[in-house]
Amino acid sequence: MSEGERTRERERPPLKDNPYERVMVWRRELAERNKTGQVVLKPSDRELFISRQGRLHYFLNPFAFKDTPLQSWLCFKHQVVTKSGKHRHQGGIIIYVIDGKGYSVVDDERIDWEKGDLLLLPMKPGGVEHQHFNLQPGKPAWWIAFISIPIIEHLASEMQQVEVSPDFKG
Ligand SMILES: [Fe+2]
Repeated sequence: MSEGERTRERERPPLKDNPYERVMVWRRELAERNKTGQVVLKPSDRELFISRQGRLHYFLNPFAFKDTPLQSWLCFKHQVVTKSGKHRHQGGIIIYVIDGKGYSVVDDERIDWEKGDLLLLPMKPGGVEHQHFNLQPGKPAWWIAFISIPIIEHLASEMQQVEVSPDFKG
């Protein structure tokens, strides 16, 4: 854009709001977040909290944190002290084991994992029911999940809580 065009844009009166302009605003904000948003997230930037599914620590969550780039990703750590809640949703999810040793029960099959492993939740008709267990009493296991929200949308994936984590007191 030339300097003359920029000047004309600055001088233009505000555009009347309409659905097209909302898209323009959204796209401008998206570009701005990607250009200037926080790209290193420290654990201390977020709080660990106890949900029905267990102890979670989100880095990326566009429903809670709207100021980061990559608003189409969920990325969170899960601390498994004894066992998580149990829920069902579609797979297509990558889980990296940061620390500890445990296993997940995925559709009644036990799958063992330990620090350094990558666990994949595959896609299946109706999704996958799963629950995570720690095998080392006194040493919580930690893993981190990376979930693409467009995959959830395109698969019309529901999420159903089947069992609540024993850590949850709500
Ligand atoms: Fe899950």
